[in-house]
Amino acid sequence: MSRSYLLSVVLVLGLAGCSEAAAPDNSDTSTANPQSRLGARLISRFDCGSCHSIPGIRGASGVVGPPLTAFARRAYIAGRRPNTAENLENWLVNPRQTDAETAMPDLGISAQQARHIRAYLYTLK
Ligand code: HEC
Repeated sequence: MSRSYLLSVVLVLGLAGCSEAAAPDNSDTSTANPQSRLGARLISRFDCGSCHSIPGIRGASGVVGPPLTAFARRAYIAGRRPNTAENLENWLVNPRQTDAETAMPDLGISAQQARHIRAYLYTLK
């Protein structure tokens, strides 16, 4: 094996490693994305699972609210507003602003926490 052959193998492997590291992460699972990982922790901390069944959250099997299964594919939030990132974050921060009579309580979630929680809910496909 010639030295230049070995060198080019090393180069190609090196470049492949580089482009892999720089590639965007499209897998978007709860463990791949730090924002959604934080969201999962907040969901546990706020005990959303006492009212909702939520895939991937231990003990989240409540039946007070609707299951959040496949939430990324849901067309509407609580059957009222289109399921956009902005509407979902607003819903989490202040559900009663969307519907004054909803049974979902205001849990004191900040805008930043809502972004993380939204990121997790959108991994549910
Ligand atoms: C005390 C019970 C309760 C808790 C705690 C609660 N929810 Fe809810 N949630 C509800 C109810 C009830 C609804 C249905 C609201 C409606 O249709 O008006 C709902 C609706 C929702 C919806 C819209 C669901 C749909 O099918 O469109 C989302 C998303 C949601 N909750 C997320 C959360 C998250 C995230 C948490 C924790 C931060 C949480 N909820 C905590 C009771 C709760």
